[in-house]
Amino acid sequence: MNPTASPLCEALTKQPFPADFVWGVATSAYQIEGAANEGGRGLSIWDVFAGESGKVAGGDTGDVACDHYHRYREDVALMQQLNIDAYRFSIAWPRVQPDGAGAWNEQGWDFYARLLDALDEAGIAAHATLYHWDLPQALEDKGGWRNRDTAARFADYAAEFARRFGSRVKTIATHNEPLCTAMIGHEEGRFAPGLKDRKAAYQVAHNLLLSHGLAMRAMRAVGASAALGIVLNQSPAYPAAATEEARGAARLADAMVNRLFMDPLFRGAYPADLLAHLGADAPDVQPGDMALIGAPMDFLGINYYSRIWAGAAGERAPCELGVTDMGWEIYPQGFTEHLVRISRDYSPPPIYITENGCACADVLEGDAVHDSGRVDFLARHLEALRAAIALGADVRGYFHWSLLDNFEWDSGYAKRFGLIYVDYATQRRVLKDSARWYAAYITAQRNGA
Ligand code: NOJ
Repeated sequence: MNPTASPLCEALTKQPFPADFVWGVATSAYQIEGAANEGGRGLSIWDVFAGESGKVAGGDTGDVACDHYHRYREDVALMQQLNIDAYRFSIAWPRVQPDGAGAWNEQGWDFYARLLDALDEAGIAAHATLYHWDLPQALEDKGGWRNRDTAARFADYAAEFARRFGSRVKTIATHNEPLCTAMIGHEEGRFAPGLKDRKAAYQVAHNLLLSHGLAMRAMRAVGASAALGIVLNQSPAYPAAATEEARGAARLADAMVNRLFMDPLFRGAYPADLLAHLGADAPDVQPGDMALIGAPMDFLGINYYSRIWAGAAGERAPCELGVTDMGWEIYPQGFTEHLVRISRDYSPPPIYITENGCACADVLEGDAVHDSGRVDFLARHLEALRAAIALGADVRGYFHWSLLDNFEWDSGYAKRFGLIYVDYATQRRVLKDSARWYAAYITAQRNGA
């Protein structure tokens, strides 16, 4: 399918973004906050994982990161320079509940209260994510997400956040990219907690979904006025060749990456083809789980970075637009196609693009970073998004990943995703060309460009 090929579609894609479209940037706690041992914060699984030799490139850790914990005011002022409407960030669970159960840490909650105050003063709306991968280590010691009880602990934490801040944030996402927590963390072992166990990984996927459902119920019960949902990373899967083998591989990849979460959330069941493929590695599901997981959401967050090729290697089409510094193919058309497809197949609630962006080998030259590659990436993906909206996808906002260069998980600080450059030796922030481009783009959109 090439949705922009017909003259009708060409015309539709000229439509401007809706007037009330939300323009934002995104970050997450472990990737930017630093202050790992301050303010009563407990240990997270990423502190432990990054502390082990060989797990993160360069031996990097999030101990200091962008020092955002101390510099959040400066960072909010930078957001104002970007002209954004909204900021997506995550709460570090071990900062507000060091052991993942029991006592709350008021110093931790105070940090987020101060951040929300600064955002309020700047006129920037807050969009919170409760879990962006930094599980309290104390819960990992009891089996982490392999243990069903962690889902109940998460619901308690979610309810407490909603009770305190549920009217101060526009949206609350339970999880960010549960696929990565489950598979990269428990099957591939490249992310914390670093396990290599497929059966465990699928049980984790289920327990994450269960925790989402329990958290939704708990947050509704405290009457949070924020819109509630989840953030999924999605990638369209394409067969690498015109063969039945490759088409089957693409269907399976779609099941493992996209339908694994979309089907339980919107159709009340795991995909039958995936369950057949997993056999004994399929998750244990208890009565009532699927009803909890499928409870209605107010929004769906989608993170889009690239596409997947499936089937025999060597037959895939060349990457016409090249790859990012992560080696991920630049494929904006997949953004349009996937949004149109999920809108058709699932009738989801309003969608926010909660992440989209690219790593570039940025170089600081005096006071400038000429990241023309990122400008091109951004321009192409915003056009692709505009096409998706014109074709019927109900997308309400776009959050670029990321505000700042930050700790890119197992790649450490070697990969730079920011609109703003961070000189880690001095913590100096420098607006890249892409930041100025995005700011001007947002202004033009507001003026009806
Ligand atoms: C997805 C994750 O949510 C975020 O933490 C990560 O830095 C970006 N993608 C880039 O890999």
